Amino acid sequence: MSKESKTYKNMPKKIYIRTFGCQMNVRDSEVIAGLLKTNNYELTANSNEAGVIIFNTCSVRQHAEDKVWSEIGRVSKSQSVKVSGKPIIGVVGCMANNYREAIFERSPQVDFVVGTADIHMIPGIIKKMLASTENRVQRIELFERKIWETDGEVRPEEIYHTGFHLDCEHAFVVISEGCENYCSYCVVPYVRGKLRSRNYADILDEIKEDIDAGIKKITLLGQNVNAYQFGVGSSGFGVKKFVDLLEMVNRVNGLEEFSFVTSHPKGTSEELFRAMAEYAKLKKYLHLPVQSGSDRILKLMNRGYGRKFYLDLAHIYRTIVKDGALTTDIIVGFPSETEQDFQDTYDLVQEIGFNAAYIFKYSPRPNTEALKFADDVTKTEKERRHSLILELQKKMSKDKK
Ligand code: 5AD
Ligand code: SF4
Repeated sequence: MSKESKTYKNMPKKIYIRTFGCQMNVRDSEVIAGLLKTNNYELTANSNEAGVIIFNTCSVRQHAEDKVWSEIGRVSKSQSVKVSGKPIIGVVGCMANNYREAIFERSPQVDFVVGTADIHMIPGIIKKMLASTENRVQRIELFERKIWETDGEVRPEEIYHTGFHLDCEHAFVVISEGCENYCSYCVVPYVRGKLRSRNYADILDEIKEDIDAGIKKITLLGQNVNAYQFGVGSSGFGVKKFVDLLEMVNRVNGLEEFSFVTSHPKGTSEELFRAMAEYAKLKKYLHLPVQSGSDRILKLMNRGYGRKFYLDLAHIYRTIVKDGALTTDIIVGFPSETEQDFQDTYDLVQEIGFNAAYIFKYSPRPNTEALKFADDVTKTEKERRHSLILELQKKMSKDKK
């Protein structure tokens, strides 16, 4: 046996998962961890002792992707690689769908790539990869081929029932995946696919399982959570909408509190606010991204509403949901954003007085409509607008306390 094959054979088989991005990814990593545990793999919180490293990635802004590329490079050059051999590296999540097999060209260290709708295949892929490390000849063949699975469209419901949670009191529950709003700056529809709502009965089963496991609080997750809709009956005579689901979740015994993210203003109605006011367990908290306060920019963003619509909505929310918290997302420096457009956003933030606002600098994304526009707001100007709103929001958050 050669010295090299011995190194591979003795390589640790523990798996390390590193998560980037939103709460949906946090939940996806839990699902992956649960699937791996069910398949008798051991997880580790220390990347240095891992034989398999999985990066669960985000593509929403360039910066998020840059972090992943550099982490892959760092891990494959680290000290532990010299000691215990090269770990198997997998890229899953949004970057897997964004780049597919092109990831191998940019990062030859990556061994497998798995898309957001194919995560149930991860244990099988790892099994194949690890088996091949027992035999060096096969290993080289396999690494020349690499493995990628990025064409799936629907996740099997079972994957949500592995019962693995990072937090013993709170759980994320995915109620829908994907988005088809096609906001002009957003990569989500291209990496997460069209909107798919899960069966409400299965969602309720998952929540009950969580409660049996000691969970007390739930956050319902969806990229466009309030667009939830599930057809009932063979002739499709009935439809369960988002508020119907809220009503059912509110009735689950043992649940103490629940909330939901992220909502789109377009589908947010008085009916939803009344449900929020009425259901005792539903947290009085609404994350409602406005993105811009300028009608012209909102139109270019394809958001489907204008400044006045949002201001009125915020007003109705605060009238109906007494003491309800309101938070938002804002993008500064969208293509062609003038000083006046920016001022409109600044004024809106001041007028509404959000409890918190997450402010982002526009980042051109592949496939999106906005890619056709010149990214003409300079980096310095984006930074100036970013810090102006950040300062304003900090001041307002302080005043609200
Ligand atoms: N550039 C900057 N910010 C973006 N977001 C989404 N796409 C982009 C982009 N291309 C922001 C939006 C969204 C949040 C999750 O990320 O504000 O609500
Ligand atoms: Fe992206 Fe718009 Fe869908 Fe949100 S609603 S995920 S910003 S396309």
